[in-house]
This record gives sequence, C-alpha cells and structure tokens, in this order.
Amino acid sequence: MAVLTSGGDAPGMNAAVRAVTRGALAKGWEAFGVRNGYAGLIGDAIEPLAARDVGGIVQHGGTMLGSARSPEFVEAAGRATALRNLARRGIEALVVIGGNGSQTGSSSLAREGLAVVGVPSTIDNDLYGTDVSIGSDTAVNITLEAIDRLRTTASSHQRAFAVETMGRDCGYIALMAGLAGGAEVIALPESEITPAEVAERLRAAYKRGKTHAIVVIAEGARCGVRELMQHYEKEKASIGFELRVTRLGHVVRGGAPTAADRVLATRLGAAAVDCLDRGEKGVLVGLSCNTVVSSPLADIAGRMRPADRGLLELARVMAI
Ligand code: F6P
Repeated sequence: MAVLTSGGDAPGMNAAVRAVTRGALAKGWEAFGVRNGYAGLIGDAIEPLAARDVGGIVQHGGTMLGSARSPEFVEAAGRATALRNLARRGIEALVVIGGNGSQTGSSSLAREGLAVVGVPSTIDNDLYGTDVSIGSDTAVNITLEAIDRLRTTASSHQRAFAVETMGRDCGYIALMAGLAGGAEVIALPESEITPAEVAERLRAAYKRGKTHAIVVIAEGARCGVRELMQHYEKEKASIGFELRVTRLGHVVRGGAPTAADRVLATRLGAAAVDCLDRGEKGVLVGLSCNTVVSSPLADIAGRMRPADRGLLELARVMAI
C-alpha cells in the first residue's frame, strides 16, 4: 500500500504517516510513500517506507512526504497516469491524508476501482464524516495563544484587537479560539455580522466598562478585517476603543502538533489500515463521539460540516 499527504499541510500529518506506515508493516505489508501528494502519484515519485523512515517525526508539524494541490489530478487523464504508476509497482491500496479537496480526489480514485481510504486532515475542520480533523486542534491553540497575548497588550492600552485566523469557508478555528479566548465578537462565514454590528458591540462593551475587546474574524467571513477597519475609521471617535488588526495567516498551520492531534492522527492512521485489511474501501475514517467510524467517500466529497451555532450564541452570552 502507499500513503500520501495532500492539500494544505496540517500539524499531525506526520503522526498519521507514521501510523499508516507502521500499521501496514505490522500486518506484513509493503509500504510506500508518495512525494508531494497527487502530483507525486502522477510524476511517479513513490518510494518504499520502512519503520525507521518514519521515526522521530511524530512531534513535527508539516509533512515529511511533502504536499501539493494538483490541478492535473482533477482531470481523468491525470488520474489514469496515477493508477498506472501504482499498478506498475504492484501497489494495491492507497491511504490519502488530507482535507476536502483531497478527499474529493480520493473519491474519484475509489470510483475508478482503486482501494482507497481517506484520513481527514485539515486545520479548517470542515470535513463531513468526522467530528474533528487532524490539525484543527493545533490551529485552534495557536490562534488562542495569539488572542491571549493580544489581550494582554489590549488591556494595557484600552484597545480593541481584531484577529483574523484561517479556515477558508469554515469558521471552526475562529469559533473555538474565540470562545476559549473570551472574544467580545466572533465573525464567521456561516453566521454573518456586519461591520456596523461589530462596531456597535465594541461601543457597548466600552460603555459597560471593559478595558479591552477582542474580535475574532474567520478569513472567510464577509465582514473581513478590511471592511471592519474602513467602517471603524468613520466611527472611531464615538466607539471608545482604538482598533488594531493582526492577521495570523499561515502561522496557525505551522509548529508542533498538540497531543490531541498526535493521538487523533495515530488512531485514524491505524484505523485506515484496518479498514483496508478487512476489505473496507472507498471510505473516510473519522471520529464520532470519540469512536472511530468510517463513511463512504462518495457521501463526503464536496460537503461541509455545519457550524455549531449554539457555541456562537454561548460566546455572545459570555461576553457581557
Ligand atoms: O485548507 C487549509 C488552509 O490553510 C485554509 O485555511 C486557507 O484558506 C488555505 O489553506 C490557504 O491555502 P494556501 O496555503 O494554498 O495559501
């Protein structure tokens, strides 16, 4: 069997590569690693993996295999080349560690006859079929650390800070970090708020005697940092707080994975191999109520986990 990591890297991918490789070797199978995601499958960048090749990586962020987004793989011709490369080496199965786009690719490969199992790995945590994806806990914690640090200086200067975090079209990281960090306002793509409403909430917080305020903005929110700043410029004299902006960008995708991400990656990587062993293919492994589950890739591809609006409301109540 072969393993690859695809799409945006996520902390914990290495732990998943290790778990898949060692899980396969423990069953007496041969394991191969594919470089740079689907691009390496098309370009035949496939190498054998031994137990020691995946040693000393569980604590590292990123992915030792490299990752890429491959436009060629979306085309049937690209996938046909990839399938030929696997067949020529006698590779019968593939584990794909990646997020939404990557699992759409694995769903296509499964439809075309390959034994594929997907392992959900994306900081965005937008994948259907699992409560949590590898990397999202680390991204939430990095965002939270930034919020905690900004709150310190916000408090000293009686300022408001707007913190933009990643997540593409999903507000999970912003919501969880905002709730944990005691944010005054959280702006998500799934639950729109206008710049005027944000400004109003900050004005009200100032009037209630707050010494600082944190606004967490998901990168996909329509009320982005630019829109907020433009609006704020017009009204700042009446709001009370000065507003500063911090965009975290790719910082939230780097660094060492948390214990939760390493454990999740180890469980799901091993579970993917177990699926293949019992002939279960064309599925995504995931976690539901802390139990490993699997769902057909065909049902997952292109769908997005809905946001937990109850948590958004809870954050609002806590900000009084
Ligand atoms: O999907 C992970 C992610 O980090 C998103 O949160 C973000 O929108 C996107 O990837 C950034 O992509 P890139 O690394 O290609 O700029």
